[in-house]
Amino acid sequence: MDDLIILEVTVNGQRRSARVDRRELLVEALRARFGVTGPKIGCLTGDCGACTVRLNGLITKSCLRLAVAEEGAEIETLESMSTESGLSDLQEAFWDNNAFQCGYCLSGMLFSAEDLLEHNPTPNEQEIRQAISGNLCRCTGYDAIVTAIKQHADRVGDKTFSTRPADVGEISSQA
Ligand code: FES
Ligand code: FES
Repeated sequence: MDDLIILEVTVNGQRRSARVDRRELLVEALRARFGVTGPKIGCLTGDCGACTVRLNGLITKSCLRLAVAEEGAEIETLESMSTESGLSDLQEAFWDNNAFQCGYCLSGMLFSAEDLLEHNPTPNEQEIRQAISGNLCRCTGYDAIVTAIKQHADRVGDKTFSTRPADVGEISSQA
């Protein structure tokens, strides 16, 4: 039996296909076959979070999935976060707070933070620590990461607040 089969997936918005080994993990295929190196190979047991991607919209540790099982999937990696104009606002907050050193944990930390803020835009410190608890960072001691996520949440909250005059106008015109 041929161990290589064609896998078609969407990676960071682009339809891609590659020959992958039936036994290859998704993180291995992403790096070796599709050339995206944002997701890192760490523990390969689901413990460190270095391999985190967004798979069909859900945060997933890509070392826990076989690549061939993801035929047709939509996959977003760390590379999808920045834009042509530069880093995302969340990445900027990490930059501003020196929230990474080697960067190995960034996929897990950033996707976990994004996911948290989508569900809870005003998290407290404990909620942030809980949200990133599935990711290991061997460099920062975590405090800078927590600070970065909190700062980003606060900045987004301030922007939301600055649009309030329009909202107030809408409310009073409806009254
Ligand atoms: Fe996937 Fe560690 S490499 S969780
Ligand atoms: Fe090195 Fe987190 S910055 S593992």
